[in-house]
Amino acid sequence: MDRNLPLNIARVTEAAALASAKLLGRGDKNAADQAAVDAMRRMFDTVSIDGVVVIGEGEMDEAPMLYIGEEIGIGGPHDLKVDIAVDPLDGTRSVANGLPNAISVVAIAPRGCLLHAPDTYMDKIAVGPKAKGVVDIKKPVEENIKNVANALGKDVSEVTVTILDRPRHEKLIEDVRKAGARIKMFSDGDVLAAINTCFSYTDVDILMGVGGAPEGVLAAAALKCLGGEFQGLLTPATEEQHRRCIEMGADCDKVYTIDDLVKGDEVVFAATGVSYGELLDGVQYIEKNVATTHTLVLRAETGTIRFIDATHKLDKKPEYAK
Ligand code: FBP
Repeated sequence: MDRNLPLNIARVTEAAALASAKLLGRGDKNAADQAAVDAMRRMFDTVSIDGVVVIGEGEMDEAPMLYIGEEIGIGGPHDLKVDIAVDPLDGTRSVANGLPNAISVVAIAPRGCLLHAPDTYMDKIAVGPKAKGVVDIKKPVEENIKNVANALGKDVSEVTVTILDRPRHEKLIEDVRKAGARIKMFSDGDVLAAINTCFSYTDVDILMGVGGAPEGVLAAAALKCLGGEFQGLLTPATEEQHRRCIEMGADCDKVYTIDDLVKGDEVVFAATGVSYGELLDGVQYIEKNVATTHTLVLRAETGTIRFIDATHKLDKKPEYAK
């Protein structure tokens, strides 16, 4: 995989973040998402890849851009054939409501290496590198927490589990409390919540709970680069979601490991903060034509973790002003 590709995809997530951040706190999640999609799609036209979207905005008939199967990138004869997973805005409601932790995210791997996950729910468990190998999504919550505590050299009472704030997690919350661990709820954005488990200063040790399966593939891509662990079980919530799983040949009894979700170690990943978070600062429009972004860039082959602070002179980048 081209070692400059991570920087090029950082430009893509930066463009999407810059566009959607203009709609921070405006109460319109669809407009925020659309702005991110348009900007991301435009920037992909400048990247030297022969890409196909495998995780995107939906099927072709429901999403005009970044739909599943769309070919993107320059697509020259010498360009690398790749799978692309995108979430132009993970945390659409957060942006609409001016809340933290919204990001724009892209993962790229050689063609055939990213799981074509159905648009359904997925039960997830994610931990950072120190707790790799000690969790099993099929085991009781208490056992997983104890094993993580041992791996981290902590008491169970010092372990923090991060959980998406949804009514469906009532039993999970009860189980975590019974086990004696802390809970840090978040309102949206479980890709970033999974990534946080790999950075001790975010004070998050385990992600547990049900979120989107497409977001699961993006989180798995990041955690593969970071040396963490991710497991997912597809949990379709409706007949329609169940039908989609069957159509796509997905197995609802299987534990999808990080290697099932992202094959090999040639994946690259970038996420740019849209609104403020513990790991990534949000976009700041500091003057009329100047904005700053904060981006996490990862490459599994080398395990390099980069944080890129960028200052954008928007009058010199007409593509960002659109
Ligand atoms: P969107 O920004 O695309 O709406 O996704 C936000 C998100 O919180 C994801 O991070 C998460 O996987 C999913 O929604 C959970 O779905 P739901 O909101 O239906 O519980």
